[in-house]
Amino acid sequence: MAGWNNNQLRKYNIKFEKIPVLQHDDPKVNSLLCNNKPVLIKGSKLVSSVLNWDLDYLQKHMSSVCCNVMVSTNHKFKYYDQKKITPSITFKPQSRPSSMTFSEFAERMKTWKKGAPRLYLQQTLNNSIGHHVVRDFVMFNWDWVMSKQKICKWGALTSNLLLISQEGNITPCHYDEQQNMFAVVKGYKRFILFPPSQFECLYPHPVHHPYDRQSQVDFDNPNYTMFPKFKDACGYEAVVGPEDVLYIPIYWFHHVESLMSGGYTVSINFWFKAGPIEKIEYPLQDYQKMAIMRNVEKMLGEALHDPNDVGSMLRTIVVGRYTSEEL
Ligand code: SIN
Ligand code: FE
Repeated sequence: MAGWNNNQLRKYNIKFEKIPVLQHDDPKVNSLLCNNKPVLIKGSKLVSSVLNWDLDYLQKHMSSVCCNVMVSTNHKFKYYDQKKITPSITFKPQSRPSSMTFSEFAERMKTWKKGAPRLYLQQTLNNSIGHHVVRDFVMFNWDWVMSKQKICKWGALTSNLLLISQEGNITPCHYDEQQNMFAVVKGYKRFILFPPSQFECLYPHPVHHPYDRQSQVDFDNPNYTMFPKFKDACGYEAVVGPEDVLYIPIYWFHHVESLMSGGYTVSINFWFKAGPIEKIEYPLQDYQKMAIMRNVEKMLGEALHDPNDVGSMLRTIVVGRYTSEEL
């Protein structure tokens, strides 16, 4: 029986289909992974060695480790790039990074009261986490995940992020420039994914904006006047529980929520670089077009010395020249 129910999901006015669920040894897993298609994988045992990672255990073994904790005034934790905050924009993020020891984080989680700022630990697993936890980390099913890297010709593993979230927290819709094998250790997380082909429905912020890669659409209260094509967005959904691994393909948009279940979630992601390009084949894939668009935006920003001028130049190039009405 599933350890969750529909009442624990937030409600959105979005259409979605289900992400396929397959056993780890089903041959279809590799073909989905290698074709950049999401799949929820059962039975891989990727993180079976750390199912004991809860607040008490980690507090015992990581108590004085300094951790990155996002603190938010609401339930949304919209990531931003600090380096892209410039004096020319007004930028008031609702969630901010804060450093605290694991002990401090665990105590704040245990004594948290409704209305207080929400917390979300997002800590890279590196050798600062203490030898006991490193020993657990070594026991991940590395053979399995590295065999997927090899089969799909992904690039290097770049990092593992440990995520500990309060119930109901949300990571709003965004895409990453890496392949992500997402493993849940404790609790349930709901994912809504959108393929790169739905770029136009999701309106990501401009590349130079601190919210680069994040959708501008607030799923709780979509502004259909500003973002009319969001009505056409159609996602792929999965609820991911302990020992499950969700493959989030590179450049796929994803919204993530920890279910409103009365508990917290613990999860770990495995990020891999994109594989080297052996031979470019046409037509290009949608995610390759997204990479090109990013480069065009970056190049124009650099050439013009002011990201604020990028939009008007793109408009000058396009409007009346490449717009379908005019052709
Ligand atoms: C999350 O689990 O909240 C976010 C993970 C991701 O965006 O990769
Ligand atoms: Fe992500």
